[in-house]
Amino acid sequence: ADLYGAGRRNSAGVELGHEASLHGLLEEIRAGRAADRVAAPLVDGVAQPGVERPLLAPADAATIVGRVREADEATADRAVEAARRGFRAWERTPAAARAAALEKASDLLEARRGRLLGLLQAEAGKTLDDALAELREAVDFLRYYAAQARSLFGEGEPMPGPTGEDNRLVHRGRGVFLCISPWNFPLAIFLGQVSAALAAGNAVVAKPAEQTPLVAVEAVRALHEAGVPASALQFVTGDGRVGARLVAHRHIAGVAFTGSTETARRINQTLAAKDGPIVPLIAETGGINAMIVDATALPEQVSDDVVTSAFRSAGQRCSALRLLCVQEDVADKMIGMIVGAARELKLGDPQDLSVQVGPVIDAEAKQRLDAHIARLKGSARVHLAEEAPAQGYFVGPHVFELKRQADLTEEIFGPVLHVVRWKAGELPALLDGIEATGYGLTLGVHSRIDATIAQVISRLDVGNCYVNRNMIGAVVGTQPFGGSGLSGTGPKAGGPNYLKRFAVEQTVTVNT
Ligand code: SER
Repeated sequence: ADLYGAGRRNSAGVELGHEASLHGLLEEIRAGRAADRVAAPLVDGVAQPGVERPLLAPADAATIVGRVREADEATADRAVEAARRGFRAWERTPAAARAAALEKASDLLEARRGRLLGLLQAEAGKTLDDALAELREAVDFLRYYAAQARSLFGEGEPMPGPTGEDNRLVHRGRGVFLCISPWNFPLAIFLGQVSAALAAGNAVVAKPAEQTPLVAVEAVRALHEAGVPASALQFVTGDGRVGARLVAHRHIAGVAFTGSTETARRINQTLAAKDGPIVPLIAETGGINAMIVDATALPEQVSDDVVTSAFRSAGQRCSALRLLCVQEDVADKMIGMIVGAARELKLGDPQDLSVQVGPVIDAEAKQRLDAHIARLKGSARVHLAEEAPAQGYFVGPHVFELKRQADLTEEIFGPVLHVVRWKAGELPALLDGIEATGYGLTLGVHSRIDATIAQVISRLDVGNCYVNRNMIGAVVGTQPFGGSGLSGTGPKAGGPNYLKRFAVEQTVTVNT
């Protein structure tokens, strides 16, 4: 399959075990740090005034990473109006030219990897591994949606039929699309949303998470330099109030949002209450993601996959494992191995290459996690409670055994793994309980019995199911990503149906 378009490839990797490659990369990261770090709102490409606020490093709150200039409500309104003026010209730009601009931007990202990786580490607290994976995902999104735009949005799809006319189904941009992205993938999800909306012929107002505007503004600059007109891509910094103002604006024709279920619901309510056209929402939200492990599973593999799924990225992925369900017969052994492996993880400043678990994003996230941990220390069995460095926003890996699956009722966004045991015969009830949470994002199954794997997957309406492997890091174009129920609306990011939701359909019938 030609996933990334004619003659193009997915993003380049880096062999970190190869000394010269690693040193070259570290040199690029060091050089990238020297540049100015300010993110200002951009209306038609022009930096707007606003109150400046320092951005603190999650790994060391005494370090200022850069500054953000916050947009106010008037700036947010101006950005939507400017996008509205930019829409038609971009929508009329042939799909192949729009695709070429996205592809050029993907090359610019690879060329600027030092600066981007450095920002992902400093601003978002990512390890080099995670930052590299994120950069690659961002590049892949650009190339994949460019290839999709070429085939979907080109000449239109000829429709067969008996009328003897020329019938074509054409996809066109909707208007001004608002993209609101999260801090946990400030480059990949930011660009995934924005590039899909642009590829489909929309003008975009992009609002990054308030914690991570620096890496986002770099992505916007790359798109502008690559040929996306400044009028087709507006950039609005700010917090939830600015986001709410944008959502409520009468000229927003669609919204792509990744973040909490609660915020997605509020956005949906605002959109539904507005006068004018019905505005679609594409939401990717949270999950209480479970992994089911039976007595036939391979313990070493389970241990490795659980540690990766629960603790990599400090558990700050919506796909991360939250609830491990182990069959009683093997539970002591499995939990022992997982705890042993998790205890070996090195926690600290992600700019240290040996660190595997970085900080959580900010003080509020840390407080929420610390409160949850304190609660569970009083009510659950504690298998692991790792200390965290005092400086910065760190939370050590924790493993708690709950009495019942139903004790976990909310998404805990950090390095905290909850475990329950199940006995033979109890699996159906356990699956009922998981379904009753209402979430359906990721699911892991470890078993060597095909019937068990099929039973679990068919029982649960979960977006991404991973069998006998870890459950994070969906690959663009290969593992389309996104959940159902409380976990999101679909269509899946990085999948063949995503762009269509950003577009309107038009049937053109010509009497030939
Ligand atoms: N796409 C990401 C993953 O698969 C979401 O967090 O891990």
